[in-house]
Amino acid sequence: MLRKLLAAALIAALTGTGALAGGDTNGPDLGAYAEEIISMRSSLAKSFILPGAEVNEETFKKVCGAVGQRVKEISEKEGVKIRHAATKFRNPANAATPEEAGLIEAFEKDKGLKGLKELMGSFEKEGIKYARYTRPIYVESACLACHGAKDSRPRFITEKYAQDRAFDFKTGDLRGIISVVAPVK
Ligand code: HEC
Repeated sequence: MLRKLLAAALIAALTGTGALAGGDTNGPDLGAYAEEIISMRSSLAKSFILPGAEVNEETFKKVCGAVGQRVKEISEKEGVKIRHAATKFRNPANAATPEEAGLIEAFEKDKGLKGLKELMGSFEKEGIKYARYTRPIYVESACLACHGAKDSRPRFITEKYAQDRAFDFKTGDLRGIISVVAPVK
């Protein structure tokens, strides 16, 4: 318990999560966007993946499809860039860059400890400084209908995603990360 608390405090100090992620007065609350997207997907999956019901493209549109729409909407409206990234991706557009793969590894390594809930960082591109907030996404039982055993994937997935790697997950596995990026004012 003490070890956990110490680890959490250390990470918060190292990454400065307290300040920017939790509602920096000078900029958007990046952590709040990530939280909205993660809980949205979780509750949609719980509502639409029902025992015995067929899982097809229509179901997808109500779960990860609806999440994708919301990501687009927030990005356009709020001027932040939200991205999903995974090394075991389904949509190749979400394939992790080497830098994102490093963040995924940090969360993966922490799995036993579960002290690492978020990472805050910054980078510069073309003279502009950006803040990046990252959170891990974990697999829940409702996700397995589409991200579970390779052979049990719904047909629309095997047909549509030839390069699919986002299967054979188990409950509690790290599915990937979500990052929210905004210019620092
Ligand atoms: C009805 C099927 C379905 C369910 C249920 C589902 N997903 Fe997905 N998921 C998909 C499809 C299809 C994609 C690819 C979307 C695209 O083309 O961008 C996807 C993409 C993703 C991505 C984006 C990264 C990537 O690999 O492209 C994440 C993260 C993700 N799912 C996590 C989850 C989690 C966590 C759950 C459970 C809470 C879940 N999914 C439940 C079908 C599903």
